[in-house]
Amino acid sequence: MFKRIGILTGGGDAPGLNAVIRAAVRTAIGEFGMKCTGIEDSFEGILGDTQTRKLTLKTVSGILPRGGTILGTRNKGSFCKIVDGEMVIPEMPIDEALVNLKKHKIEALVVIGGEGTLAIAEQFHLRNFPVVGVPKTIDNDLSATELTFGFRTAIDIATEALDRLHTTAASHDRVMVMEVMGRNSGWIALEAGLAGSADIILIPEIPFSMDAVVKKVYERERIGSLFTNIVVAEGAMEVGRSEIYLDEGELRLGGVGEYVRRRVEEKTGKESRCVVLGHLQRGGSPNAFDRMLGTNFGACAVRALVSGERGKMVALEAGHVETVPLADAIENVKSVPVEGQLVRTARDIGISFAAENEDDF
Ligand code: F6P
Repeated sequence: MFKRIGILTGGGDAPGLNAVIRAAVRTAIGEFGMKCTGIEDSFEGILGDTQTRKLTLKTVSGILPRGGTILGTRNKGSFCKIVDGEMVIPEMPIDEALVNLKKHKIEALVVIGGEGTLAIAEQFHLRNFPVVGVPKTIDNDLSATELTFGFRTAIDIATEALDRLHTTAASHDRVMVMEVMGRNSGWIALEAGLAGSADIILIPEIPFSMDAVVKKVYERERIGSLFTNIVVAEGAMEVGRSEIYLDEGELRLGGVGEYVRRRVEEKTGKESRCVVLGHLQRGGSPNAFDRMLGTNFGACAVRALVSGERGKMVALEAGHVETVPLADAIENVKSVPVEGQLVRTARDIGISFAAENEDDF
């Protein structure tokens, strides 16, 4: 049994981070009599002068519904590098971190984060430091788990936004374009688009054609629907083009919504507006599902550490939390299967993905 474990959150924040922290602390202290140290601002907290704080039952009291993370996070550590427009696997100063962990008497780590954070966690494992990961991201793009926490809350927020856009689009007979997050996968766009009754969904997995977008707008006009709601994932690409970045140097996706809006207006003459949902999808209170999933993940992660599991990540598999090797978790990004059931259903109910060959489906 460990005397003290460390807990940290890394990458972009997601609703439910505090639920995981709270459950891990309550399980570690209450069930196993261990002590907990919170490492602040992702791995930065165990580098240099170090920034840590004591986590007790008292300090985690009341945080379950709170958005963000009480420990702070970073999605680009001081040790990360961008080389030739690509984020290279962060070169974590692992020796320094191991010395500092020892100094703080931290014997094992619960690392809560997405692909990049878990890749660093794996480096600790490869140096024989006990670590268990917890999969976080609103993008739901980790292949080794059915769901990441944060995703369902993001879908709720995007769906509500679409409902609101619907009424204003219909009142003004406009084309409304809503850009959502998701990096290079289209899960948020697809699921929110289905739940919020989008007419066109543009996702990175299906390159779109502007002609197909316009065709759908006109098709709707013919049946008397003078407005169109489009959801576009930030990583969506027009056929023959690549993703659009806000700032190439920073590798921040964004701008495709405005691009689609402008082109629709040019091609149809219809008034069109674009809304970028952005960080509203990440901020604020987690929904009930993410509180539950985060809590289950947090407790399971501590139990896994105590029972001797190493280099693992907790993962949801058919509604049950299990553990999988961290290495599997960081290997592949989970994309929307273009031949999958949800895409099929969307097409069956008349939603267009504006593929070049959309008519063939
Ligand atoms: O991975 C989560 C996410 O919200 C992505 O959907 C988005 O591309 C990215 O993080 C934005 O990160 P930030 O604005 O924090 O740099």
